[in-house]
Amino acid sequence: MKKIAVVGTGYVGLVTGTCFAETGNQVICVDIDSKKVARMRNGEVPIYEPHLDVLFERNIKANRLSFTTDLEAGIQDAEIIFLALPTPPGEDGSADLRYILGVADELGKLLKDYKVIVDKSTVPVGTAEKVHAAIAKHATVDFDVVSNPEFLREGFAVDDFMKPDRVVLGTSSERAEQIMEQLYKPFVRQGNPIIFMDEKSAELTKYAANAFLATKITFMNEIANFCELVGADVDKVRIGIGSDERIGKRFLFPGIGYGGSCFPKDVQALVNSGLENNYSFGIIQAVMEVNESQKTILFPKMKNFFRGDLSGKKIALWGLAFKPDTDDIREAPALYMIDALVKAGANITAYDPEAMENVKGVVGDSISFAENEYDALKDADALLICTEWGVFRNPDFDKMKSLMKDSVIFDGRNLFEISEMNKNGFYYSSIGRSI
Ligand code: UGA
Repeated sequence: MKKIAVVGTGYVGLVTGTCFAETGNQVICVDIDSKKVARMRNGEVPIYEPHLDVLFERNIKANRLSFTTDLEAGIQDAEIIFLALPTPPGEDGSADLRYILGVADELGKLLKDYKVIVDKSTVPVGTAEKVHAAIAKHATVDFDVVSNPEFLREGFAVDDFMKPDRVVLGTSSERAEQIMEQLYKPFVRQGNPIIFMDEKSAELTKYAANAFLATKITFMNEIANFCELVGADVDKVRIGIGSDERIGKRFLFPGIGYGGSCFPKDVQALVNSGLENNYSFGIIQAVMEVNESQKTILFPKMKNFFRGDLSGKKIALWGLAFKPDTDDIREAPALYMIDALVKAGANITAYDPEAMENVKGVVGDSISFAENEYDALKDADALLICTEWGVFRNPDFDKMKSLMKDSVIFDGRNLFEISEMNKNGFYYSSIGRSI
């Protein structure tokens, strides 16, 4: 059993704290947002993340998981302090380290005995050094800083945490290495590795992983765009190349671009880190540009279909979140499509199982919202699909046709087989496949 403090209760901090409590550790989560802390003390999970609620409740009940706004009290007994603070993009897209370094500065004044301070947030190369320096400015006791990037996917965060493919630990201290190894042992019982390295390599591993995955998707998006021009089928090409073990089957699904709080931000931050070191990332820069245009790739297709005039057209929109199983709409392609369609005069009625409240906050009353996926279809001239929620995958096509004015679908996530849609009598336009 270890005593742990987790500073910051965003999706990373909350999942980290809850999962460490689940393996028998004593965890205190610290957040400056007193309203959020009050809600969590009442057993309310502030984010939507599958399975988190069950673990959350169980560990609060068992007195292994608690919450405070008081940093000093929160860290007092902890041997390990995780920093899971936001690193939002600054004006130029570089990761803003103000929150992390601010807490590091405070920690320096508060430390009374040896502690391991762990950077869990995604931070640019060299941050562990900066955190060390900020703490050392005031510290009178020994401490170590470890870089331990997270590889959690929203929607699968609990699963990814409990059964990680690998745990990356960047540290040059043997003492910290041993403490962290004990902490993570229960999570790698299936034989997945804990990989020890220096702090900088650990920090870069996180950015390189996200940038590589973003590149993989973007590469496939370009192949998909080209498939349409030459009459090839991207699904076939995807299976054809994915069966090569060196390429692999995963993360090759084309669509309307990657979104979320991680890929766009981290890819940009890596490019910026490059520039700060006089290096220009040609490939990654191109990935960003292609992804930018991919987000609205369906707009010209829709416009063409309606002979250049979308004004007054009623568009049903399925899916707002940047991906299924989350209510996160940061950099969601749906928002870019909404913007383009509203500007062109279309009337949108949207449905998303979890993200509608968040979108209301952003687009106000420029679009309408429906009770369920079928309600959104009433009198629609076309359906646009932006997120591949499970509930959209096997709909009642007859019901859809009877509700819609026209049987027209623009699918940004390739949910259906072309042959099936032809048989069902839909005009069906997707990504990288012929109509
Ligand atoms: C991503 C990484 O997958 C995690 O490993 C990482 O820890 C996390 O960022 C982070 O840095 O915190 P996440 O952003 O939650 O996780 O979502 P992903 O499942 O990776 O999806 C990202 C985007 O790529 C989504 O918009 C998704 O629709 C898109 N995508 C994914 C595709 O377009 N095609 C694919 O084949 C896969």
